Amino acid sequence: EKGTYPHFMLKEMDEQPAVLRRIIKEYTNEAGELAVPQELIAEIKQAERIYVVACGTSYHAGWVGKELLESLAHIPVEVFLASEFSYNQPLLVEKPFFIFLTQSGETADSRQALVKVNEQNYPSLTITNVKGSTLSREANHTLLLHAGPEIAVASTKAYTAQMTVMAILAESLRREKGIEKSFDMAHELGVIATVIEGILSDKEDIHEIVKKELADTRNAFYIGRHMDYYVAMEAALKLKEISYIQTESFAAGELKHGTIALIEEGTPVIALINEDNVASHTRGNIQEVKARGARTMVVAMEKNAIEGDDVVISNVEEMLSPLTTVVVTQLIAYYASLDRGLDVDKPRNLAKSVTVE
Ligand code: M6R
Repeated sequence: EKGTYPHFMLKEMDEQPAVLRRIIKEYTNEAGELAVPQELIAEIKQAERIYVVACGTSYHAGWVGKELLESLAHIPVEVFLASEFSYNQPLLVEKPFFIFLTQSGETADSRQALVKVNEQNYPSLTITNVKGSTLSREANHTLLLHAGPEIAVASTKAYTAQMTVMAILAESLRREKGIEKSFDMAHELGVIATVIEGILSDKEDIHEIVKKELADTRNAFYIGRHMDYYVAMEAALKLKEISYIQTESFAAGELKHGTIALIEEGTPVIALINEDNVASHTRGNIQEVKARGARTMVVAMEKNAIEGDDVVISNVEEMLSPLTTVVVTQLIAYYASLDRGLDVDKPRNLAKSVTVE
């Protein structure tokens, strides 16, 4: 039930800090460490490579998961759209391990890919919000998202939950492999829950920006590099899905290889800037589009932000910045849809769970 909330999406966005804390609790073992079951760790440790298979928002969470698994646990990861994987299986390594990311656990494209994986007897894990769902039953292992039911078609809390569970999986593998840690995952996730709370309590500021910058536009762009590029992909999907603004995401460095031709007077370009080593380059790209008339907005982590100009997010561990940044972009999508008088929770032509291939 949505209670006093006008929309499930708003309720589900607001639940994110609590979901994060619940996940931390569910995955903390008796020794007080973040951990996933030992059998799962043992099986993944034998794999030469992980293949992540998913659709839509879950696919975007997969890219963030890839970065976390590679950087923390030093395991190579490839990410595939389920609908592409099923009919054009890539050349696999001898010992692969498959991760299916699916909020509902019922997505037909993902299920079809899992059927193929099972036919070949490869080990698999489903990360899902729904206990007992088809993909959970048909994979060898399941990790639950513990996000509570997600009703709005636009996925919000499941995305942040998926990234959090992937982060915990990566952390667990890192520890088991004896790789030195570069930050304290449990502490950082706790900090992030608080930072998200801050973003949500200032949501009216985002509404003002949306009113000013996105009120009458028919198109928009999100740009970013590395982790910010993955968030840009998700941000663009969210905005187009519920506001019907044609939104595209681009790796900021690719703009000059073609896309910049689309920039006209007043085209909104939203840049995401979190990481130190890409900040100045993305700033450069903002200047390039500005010079061609774009209306630019920047969402940046405090240490790389221009106070007074940017939407500023408190500093968090860079690898986990998608967890905070995406919340700003969820709010942008929500208000853009709301202000257009659209059906926020049930956008046209879409179903919550896509059970046809
Ligand atoms: O239930 P799943 O995670 O497998 O669903 C995958 C996509 O259909 C889903 O994420 C879709 O893209 C959302 N509507 C995005 O908000």
